[in-house]
Amino acid sequence: MYEQVSHSLLNDILDQLKPEIRERNIRHFYTRLGANFYAIHSTFHYLYGQRDDFQEKAVRLVEVLASQYIRRSQTRRELDSARERDHNWFLSQEWVGMAVYTDGFAGNIEGLREHLPYVQELGVNMLHLMPMLKCPVGASDGGYAVSDFRDIDARFGTLDQLRDLSEHLRKRNMLLTLDVVVNHTSDEHEWAQKARAGEARYQDYFYMFDTREVPDMFEETMPEVFPETAPGNFTWDPIMGKWVMTVFNNYQWDLNYSNPDVFIEMVDIILFWANQGADIVRLDAVAFLWKKIGTTCQNEREAHLLLQLMKDCCQVTAPGVLFIAEAIVAPVEIIKYFGEDAVIAKECEIAYNAALMALLWDAVATANAKLLNQGTRSLPGKLDRATWLNYIRCHDDIGLGFDDADVFAVGYEPAPHRRFLLDYYTGAYDSSPARGKPFGRNEKTGDARISGSLASLAGLEAALDSGDPLQIDRAVDLVLTLHSLIMSFGGIPLLYYGDEIGTLNDASYLEDVSKANDSRWMHRPRIDWLKAEQRHNHGSVEQRLFQGLKKMIAVRKATPAFADFNNRELLTVDNPHLFAFLRTHPDWPRESVLVVANFDLHPQHMAMADLSNRGLFQYGQLLDLYSGGSPAIFKDELVIPPRRFYWLTDQGRGGLR
Ligand code: GLC
Repeated sequence: MYEQVSHSLLNDILDQLKPEIRERNIRHFYTRLGANFYAIHSTFHYLYGQRDDFQEKAVRLVEVLASQYIRRSQTRRELDSARERDHNWFLSQEWVGMAVYTDGFAGNIEGLREHLPYVQELGVNMLHLMPMLKCPVGASDGGYAVSDFRDIDARFGTLDQLRDLSEHLRKRNMLLTLDVVVNHTSDEHEWAQKARAGEARYQDYFYMFDTREVPDMFEETMPEVFPETAPGNFTWDPIMGKWVMTVFNNYQWDLNYSNPDVFIEMVDIILFWANQGADIVRLDAVAFLWKKIGTTCQNEREAHLLLQLMKDCCQVTAPGVLFIAEAIVAPVEIIKYFGEDAVIAKECEIAYNAALMALLWDAVATANAKLLNQGTRSLPGKLDRATWLNYIRCHDDIGLGFDDADVFAVGYEPAPHRRFLLDYYTGAYDSSPARGKPFGRNEKTGDARISGSLASLAGLEAALDSGDPLQIDRAVDLVLTLHSLIMSFGGIPLLYYGDEIGTLNDASYLEDVSKANDSRWMHRPRIDWLKAEQRHNHGSVEQRLFQGLKKMIAVRKATPAFADFNNRELLTVDNPHLFAFLRTHPDWPRESVLVVANFDLHPQHMAMADLSNRGLFQYGQLLDLYSGGSPAIFKDELVIPPRRFYWLTDQGRGGLR
């Protein structure tokens, strides 16, 4: 029945397509459209079916999907088919990502291409290039205020250069990730300018109000994202004489997705970038897509429906392209961006594991893994065909977004505990070696987040200043141990450029008025290529970090147990300083890897009796895949040195494949 209805609806739409589309022989397109049509039509109808022009909009949507399919290159179409056949391809342990600001890394796209061998030397094969689209001169939220969704800013190069780069990467079996900022535009975007000039069609692309009445109602329940620099969620535009919804900065106008034109434009833009060679599209700030009075305007059901619809549309035109959800929200909410009640991802195949990131920083500051153990245990199960993006640092601040119930469960009080963490990382304790700064302090709620480079937060900056070799060792060990966890946890590790050579905080942003009030710039570095050369200088910090990570990446790629098939077993260990889990590949159950990390500043012991009783990990047969040696054993217990880790395999049971 459904099939028949959807068949006739589909035929109605196809009959109304423009002749130049109807006449094309696009067999694969029609097959995929047929397969996804019911889902697309019903969700589109749920969101926009009450409108008189619904049918017209549905035709327009299909037209966009077809036009972008027609423009899709043969190479990309072949990749789509190959990925459809091997649909778990991205769950493999072979992928290792790195996020870079192109200008900070190498000036522009050409420079990036020249420095690509450096990234390859490390073993990274997935590049996330932070936004490079046209954006306002001066403050642009690091490019997340986009003025033209289809053009590269001249500072970075040209669209042709980007397309060449994507081909260059493809030939080297590397993946390209690009951002699509779906939630807002800059106030210099053509849509915003037309709205400002009074065009009603474009005013309806945004949320605009003549008076404070509705904004005030929204404000009752909406939190503030940038309370210090952009308090409130609305900005008065004197030219239009209207209040515009601006959840992020006052120059970032929120798009109105209750208008189907906005949705269709954005699908067109996503597919445009898919056609320029993006293998993965990072959808920015997805939690914010739907606004409703009386709510926080985050994680609304409709936001999920919009993402499902975007995914279904992408399945029709560019099925090889994956989505990353950038939803830095509560752990139970993040997981929903894979899609609920499904096996394969219905929304985004990949999501930032913000929960793990924050928990790792908790373990560093407290020198124990109590909350890390509790928090990872409470993470709801993930869909089979979906994976995490595991990271320690990124271009944003660190939010302490753990679940309060977990904080209580391990015996802390949430507010004082968060205050402790903030103080620890921002220098309020003399004994803390961390050198971060607060970000986004909210006087009303007492909340704040943390900025700072990984190395500086991990104590390397303080250690280098003191010249104390032991402190330097500790910091280097910690940086490596944190990486060992994102590489083995299950998911795609995402390194952050500069961390591979221990880049410290950069204070130069303070001299730039457009950046000075945003401490996130302290960890958005300009790579010092002379410092990077030190990676060849034996014993230097750069060499120890770079070569350590390079080794780790190589081992990860050669260890199938590290692929993500929901194959992680968290171990209950009788030692609060340790975080330990087993990774076992479903096809090679005898080749588990035991991952254990010690967050304490002293050596810690782990009893292995439970594991050896299960026939796993017999003493005398243990091999650390990372060091290639045996781990320390004392009195029948494993000894993990301070701030270090092991990736243990049982040689007697098969060892490395
Ligand atoms: C995302 C980006 C962040 C930006 C925000 C608004 O969270 O990662 O850098 O400020 O979206 O676009």
